[in-house]
Amino acid sequence: MEKENLRSRNWFGRTGKDGFIYRAWMKNNGIPDHDFKKPVIGICNTWSELTPCNVHLRDLADHVKRGVLEAGGFPVEFPVMSLGETLMKPTAMLFRNLASMDVEESIRGNPLDGVVLLCGCDKTTPSLVMGACSVNLPAIVVSGGPMLTGRYKGASIGTSDVWRLAAGLEEGTVNEAQLREMEEALCHSQGHCAVMGTASTMACMAESLGLTLPGNAAIPAVDARRKVLARQSGSRIVEMVREDLKPSDILTRAAFENAIITNAAIGGSTNFVLHLLAIAGRIGVPLELGDFDTLSRDIPMIVNLQPSGQFFMEDLYDAGGLPAVLKELDTHLHKDALTVNGKTISENYRDAQCYNTAIITNTRQPVSAGTGLAVLTGNICEQGAVIKPSAASAHLMQHTGTALVFESIEDYKQRIQDDTLEVDENSILVLKNVGPKGYPGMPEVGNMTLPKKLLQKGITDMVRISDGRMSGTGFGTVVLHVAPEAAAGGNFSVLRTGDLITLDVPNRTLQVHLSDAELAERKKQWQPLPPHTTRGYVHLYTQHVQQAHLGADLDFLNGSSGANVTKDSH
Ligand code: FES
Ligand code: MG
Repeated sequence: MEKENLRSRNWFGRTGKDGFIYRAWMKNNGIPDHDFKKPVIGICNTWSELTPCNVHLRDLADHVKRGVLEAGGFPVEFPVMSLGETLMKPTAMLFRNLASMDVEESIRGNPLDGVVLLCGCDKTTPSLVMGACSVNLPAIVVSGGPMLTGRYKGASIGTSDVWRLAAGLEEGTVNEAQLREMEEALCHSQGHCAVMGTASTMACMAESLGLTLPGNAAIPAVDARRKVLARQSGSRIVEMVREDLKPSDILTRAAFENAIITNAAIGGSTNFVLHLLAIAGRIGVPLELGDFDTLSRDIPMIVNLQPSGQFFMEDLYDAGGLPAVLKELDTHLHKDALTVNGKTISENYRDAQCYNTAIITNTRQPVSAGTGLAVLTGNICEQGAVIKPSAASAHLMQHTGTALVFESIEDYKQRIQDDTLEVDENSILVLKNVGPKGYPGMPEVGNMTLPKKLLQKGITDMVRISDGRMSGTGFGTVVLHVAPEAAAGGNFSVLRTGDLITLDVPNRTLQVHLSDAELAERKKQWQPLPPHTTRGYVHLYTQHVQQAHLGADLDFLNGSSGANVTKDSH
């Protein structure tokens, strides 16, 4: 039994020349005529050999297709721009908004009734969700799943070890040959990073928003149960089309609040802030940077995963997965938030169980009393900045030190290992021009490697401040996302080496000890950097990208244009 008013009927249900054209070319793939009456389900695939974390999504799409067919739908898989975190220069983040435009237009322009979003590596999840929100056809997320835990000489390793190795190389405790050996062992299965980095954070975000079937976030990429979940999701999207269950029905303010609460409890990535703000902007739910602090404040970290804790995504799955975490957060969550399976979030986690309290603990005995995220304000960051206290050092949570300012990433790289550099463990490293407009694209360079001479003294952390981002796998006392960024000419742009800065995380402030008059005087001298380019997407991006506190989306992409296309192609 099919819905009469399927959107795809406006293509495949037509008579005459138009219907002929829409159907005839599709039939070159052996599609029988009766398929054109079924709900058409797009499988939006970020498979790419340049995105190693998503390389298995071609196979996973086949399992989605089986589910779609089983439920009486017509599956059509299509590629969209795929953003590989490890290879893309200058940073995959520069292209998140571009990929979201590809997704949005590919969905709207084609005869689709619903869409399955296949994603994994960091930016692929938000770009797909953002694009789908701007069309608002029924949509369900299927994540690629994390890699198996890396194993090296009897020890478990994951992406967060990359930062330890980088420090080890500087200190001289790790050599190039050992690095090559570990390279063989780190990524020994398909899937995305196996720690609570940005990819896992995004998978948990999608599940806590209600955009996935329960359990999606943590099933390892190579586990047979992920194929089952993909198949079930394929079946479910056909029903969602019949029920007309759209992202706007699921992504209410309550869903966003649930995602923020969950992110605090899992010790999720700081990138979560940018992506969730951008998604809220697309679906039209009011959400502000300050909400992340207010909603996270009373939520302790109860999941013991790297980089803030000890274990890996595979362990989280074995311990009960995200449903077991959500169940522990029951008193904090909006229980009646609707999810893609038509049930509320609390109905979905009601029967969940925790099988290992070392991995998923509880709010009475948390892994860390400090919450996952804090939002700072002050005269350095008039529109805010973020820090992840769970991945920072307790002794630096209230710290006053002298700024050592680097005007650009090139300046930092050139001087940081200079033995004559005046720096000690109380100094505060400041890196400018790594924001959305400044770099451009806001790269993950905020967790700057410390000067070698301090590493050799055994110093492992210092306060670092930038307008850039940090990998979700990174750690340290790192203040990120300073807004306005240096390239936008706020107070941050005029900080100088020798300025006294106070970071006070308990009171959520970040201040430079300068008067307003002094800051204003310095700003009179400030000159914007010359443009990076005057053509192409990067030009469009730098002209229109919004600051970090608004999610770094392009200003003209806020909101949704709906699914209607009034004009025909022939
Ligand atoms: Fe793709 Fe980490 S590099 S998820
Ligand atoms: Mg990353």
